[in-house]
Amino acid sequence: MSRIVFIVIAAVVVVAAATAGRYMMMPGGSDGGQSQAARVQVGGPFTLTDHTGKRVTEKDFAGKYMLMYFGYTYCPDVCPTSLSVVAEALDQLSPEQLAKVVPIFVTVDPERDTPEVMASYVPHFHSTMVGLTGSEDEVKAAARAYKAFYAKVNADAPDGNYTMDHSSITYLMGPDGLYVTHFNHGTEAAKMAARLKELL
Ligand code: NI
Repeated sequence: MSRIVFIVIAAVVVVAAATAGRYMMMPGGSDGGQSQAARVQVGGPFTLTDHTGKRVTEKDFAGKYMLMYFGYTYCPDVCPTSLSVVAEALDQLSPEQLAKVVPIFVTVDPERDTPEVMASYVPHFHSTMVGLTGSEDEVKAAARAYKAFYAKVNADAPDGNYTMDHSSITYLMGPDGLYVTHFNHGTEAAKMAARLKELL
């Protein structure tokens, strides 16, 4: 084998390994400790409406860390638990650290989660929490960018009381809007706080 052919093959193998690593990162997940985090292709532009009715994009949060979670206010269990963990973690930060991060709850159920509904929900968890909603298409685009999964369950329920299946991951995005790390469902508040203290 000539030297040049060997080098080309080696380069292909390295790229393939890096790509595999990137895609294995999310499913494998962690509680936010991986060093190759920057490679994960999560995040991107979004256009949504916040809980005060203001239209916002990712640029409105530039310069701050975003602690983002996708869910819905009618969620009986998973979302309240996750948002409580976020709130509890934030309460363990110093005022300086807290000032650097915005907790953001993005609904995957814009049909019911209007800005008004979001406004009556997010402050229960944390005074700094921002609720984001939008049109079906806007929410779909944001969720896709963040690799958040969701699907309506019992869409035909006669009482309209459908639920949403959804992934339960809290993403930490940097002041530049790029992915920093994520926290899988079940991460304890103390562990999240410890990681945030290292990163913020
Ligand atoms: Ni939920």
